[in-house]
Amino acid sequence: MMKLIGHGRSHAKIILMGEHSVVYGGPAIAVPYSGVEVHVKVKASELDKSTVRCAFYEGLVEEMPDVIASLYHTIRVTAEKTLGISSPLDYIIESTIPAERGMGSSAAVACALIRALYDFAERPLSQSQLLGLISEAETIAHGSPSGLDGLLMTKKNPVIFRRPQEIENLFFKGSLYLIVGDSGHIGRTKEAVMDVKRQIDSQDAKAKEAIEAIDQLVLSAREAIDRCQWEQLGHLMTKDHHFLQVLGVSSKELDALVASALTAGALGAKLTGGGRGGCMIAITDDPDRVEAIRANLIKAGAKTTYAHQLHTANPLL
Ligand code: PMV
Repeated sequence: MMKLIGHGRSHAKIILMGEHSVVYGGPAIAVPYSGVEVHVKVKASELDKSTVRCAFYEGLVEEMPDVIASLYHTIRVTAEKTLGISSPLDYIIESTIPAERGMGSSAAVACALIRALYDFAERPLSQSQLLGLISEAETIAHGSPSGLDGLLMTKKNPVIFRRPQEIENLFFKGSLYLIVGDSGHIGRTKEAVMDVKRQIDSQDAKAKEAIEAIDQLVLSAREAIDRCQWEQLGHLMTKDHHFLQVLGVSSKELDALVASALTAGALGAKLTGGGRGGCMIAITDDPDRVEAIRANLIKAGAKTTYAHQLHTANPLL
């Protein structure tokens, strides 16, 4: 039995601390963000071939361009290989998550698409099946992903994660605001991850020290979160940005946005995600400062800003 229309959705994610070092087994703290979302609809096609409609492309699935190769792969693996659907389908993908900005857009699209296909086929989807399928898509999109992006798609609460499988919910007990500034430039996660790998493989002492330093900062950040020490958390985030600069994954635009958030009174600021473009984040515990930080980010060149209050949705999730 198939439904007439299958629906799937997913949200964005924001890495608070630990990007890049998480690839080498360090801890990372990340937050699901539902202020932007992706929705996928799947239905039987009236044509004799499957079609897809998304912001980047409208046409036949078999003619999809290389830039969305991971989407093509997700469709083939999930619909055909896993669910055994051989009839042509129409995929409609609507997303407000900015693409290639370090907010997990590719993992979110994969997640929503997989959910929509399972809904269409009226088949149960376990968390481990979902994570496995997202991971396949992310390997095409990013090379060797840590698994953090995929994991965050299935979470409602902030987590501290260490690959391959260590996951713990984190509780933000006080009131803390996260502001995201989009540089408007495409992030280059794959390139940045490969560049850091080159440094580590060639025994670059500075890169190795930077990764180790970030690991310690993330562990201290976890303590600061547990104790609601927001000033300390901000300080650790700004230090993390410094080490990401050492690894060569920031950009002059991101550095300018980080500086502008700090000038506007943020407790801390850093790039988020793969870097070399994409987004940065800042925190404040003062609700009256949120708009000032956003305004300063726009003044310093941010194309868009988002604000999010960090809290724990339901400790059981
Ligand atoms: O740019 P994003 O949102 O895909 O984040 C990448 C995070 C890295 O730590 C750099 C890579 C990874 O796979 O965890």
